[in-house]
Amino acid sequence: VKQAPPALAHLAYELRVLAQEGLLRERPAPLSPEAVSFCSNDYLGLASRTCTGLAGAGASRLVAGERAEHAELERECAAWLGADAALAFSSGYAANLGTLAALAREGDLLVSDERNHASLVDGARLSRARIAVVPHVDANAVEQALAQSRGGRAWVITESYFSMDADSPDLAALRGLCDQRGAALVVDEAHALGVFGPEGRGLCAAAGVVPDVLIGTFGKAFGASGAFVAGCKELIGWLWNRARTFVYSTGMSPACATAALDGLRVARRSPHLRGSVLANAKRLRHGLHGIGVSPLGHGHIIPWVLGRAESASEMSSKLAARGVHALAIRPPSVPTGTARLRLTVSAHHTERDVDRATAAVRECLE
Ligand SMILES: Cc1ncc(COP(=O)(O)O)c(C=O)c1O
Repeated sequence: VKQAPPALAHLAYELRVLAQEGLLRERPAPLSPEAVSFCSNDYLGLASRTCTGLAGAGASRLVAGERAEHAELERECAAWLGADAALAFSSGYAANLGTLAALAREGDLLVSDERNHASLVDGARLSRARIAVVPHVDANAVEQALAQSRGGRAWVITESYFSMDADSPDLAALRGLCDQRGAALVVDEAHALGVFGPEGRGLCAAAGVVPDVLIGTFGKAFGASGAFVAGCKELIGWLWNRARTFVYSTGMSPACATAALDGLRVARRSPHLRGSVLANAKRLRHGLHGIGVSPLGHGHIIPWVLGRAESASEMSSKLAARGVHALAIRPPSVPTGTARLRLTVSAHHTERDVDRATAAVRECLE
């Protein structure tokens, strides 16, 4: 039997305690078609009467919301990533909030990159662990913070591809530091999955790094909505029991699980889509460089720092007037004085679309 990684080994014990106390909750067996359910919240009986017959789970998955679509999505997601198991959440926000709050406890240390997404920040706060916010993608700072760990468990929390800066931490270095210190590595791959790595398995896979907890969303490259956490069986068992955004919330809609699985399957077997989005990114970055604009980072998110919030909004409006939509990102989403325009490319864009964006930016700068 495969064991949990060292940083999560305690979860096997915690789950045993729950079992001894008669409090362990496990995935329910599917109801037989003849059974009559008296535990759903589908009060008007509409969840299964829509055009798809799959609209609502009807209840939390622990209560009566478990559907075959959930298990299928989770099985394929785990298999794709080479993880033991996965758990679907109704959003990435819920996944991050519920996961961090369920894993870290008072007395633990959470080492968190200063640019981590709000959902990671809020999950860290809810956990009541001590939080060390470290400078962006700074492995030395992570090392120093881990050295301050006293007694409790330590958790290193990062994104693999930061959506506001389009940059990445040194995941192999973070893995090494976590191993040295017995800390767990938690990586949110929301913006990397589907685009980077073999079969779109993300930047951890590309770097040959196995995080203890991997979070991904279905609302980005997979074109659906919802999210998942992947890792060892003990992790998923613990989240099933203790992630409050999972336990106390209606299960992901089966319609959404079906859409997410379809997106995952297509993304997985479509290297040409990954090739297109990255080729478009290269073309736009190259075009912008050619007109004196130096965007941050690498890849399909292309942030152009303009400084003042007004400058970013103004540039966004000027581009919109030319039929090019690019969002102005302002504080508090980014630090004051670093408001930016964020252009994200897709496999759907043609070379003409990309060149049109470059031409529009050039006109706005004239
Ligand atoms: C890094 C990251 N994690 C999580 C989320 C939240 O995902 P969702 O939109 O599915 O709630 C986002 C943004 O939406 C994100 O950028």
